[in-house]
Amino acid sequence: MRKQLAAANWKMNLTLQQAEALVDELLATPFSLNENQQAVFGVPFPYLIAIHNKFIGKNNCYVSAQNCYTQKSGAYTGETSVEMLTSIGVTHVIIGHSERREFFNESNAMLAEKINCCLSNNLKPIFCCGEPLQIRDAESQNSFVETQLKESLFHLTAEQITNFIIAYEPIWAIGTGKTASNEQAQQMHKHIRTVLANNYGLDVANTISILYGGSVKATNAGDIFAQPDVDGGLVGGASLVAADFAAIINSLKK
Ligand code: PGA
Repeated sequence: MRKQLAAANWKMNLTLQQAEALVDELLATPFSLNENQQAVFGVPFPYLIAIHNKFIGKNNCYVSAQNCYTQKSGAYTGETSVEMLTSIGVTHVIIGHSERREFFNESNAMLAEKINCCLSNNLKPIFCCGEPLQIRDAESQNSFVETQLKESLFHLTAEQITNFIIAYEPIWAIGTGKTASNEQAQQMHKHIRTVLANNYGLDVANTISILYGGSVKATNAGDIFAQPDVDGGLVGGASLVAADFAAIINSLKK
């Protein structure tokens, strides 16, 4: 069975003190992860080491960056390479979040380069895709997402994409309180898996975890995660509340 993941995306929130208090509170809250389930914490760069240290010895908990750069090293003031991330124990990176695509002009081609950097350094990308509202209104979401996948991922070999993590995040549902319905989520996740299967075969497609993101809350996570092609969530706002994120972790499929 493919991995089920609850991934937190803290975005540009919290001071270090607040971040440490949040993790302490979470670790004091009952939640459980079996060997097929993982919790991943996408934290701001300055806190990666501190938060990584908090999770040492905690099974199936991982720390993720929210971005990385396309180059190994050099004169790129302010950027962070994948080698830097692996050197401090980071295991995952969120790649291509819609906020980075929108505010930092990240293109599908640039994201393909970032994915290559991650894979060559054994860093696991969490690749984000998803359509804006006008594309959904025009009922063009399937081809829109398919293009994102093709242009950023389909140069990968079957071996490289096996056990990959994709997050489908409809932009109109992010931070809006407007979640995709269970049916809308399942339909798109099934579409993504079909596109992957057409390119790589069903066996490979079935190893890929496809997370849903966009206003996942403690109250709706169970229903969304129960959909057959939904393998957990990428969670923004609700990951900043320890009790809520613990409940979301506990909503993962067994
Ligand atoms: P949200 O954010 O849960 O606050 O909607 C999700 C995301 O942007 O990853």
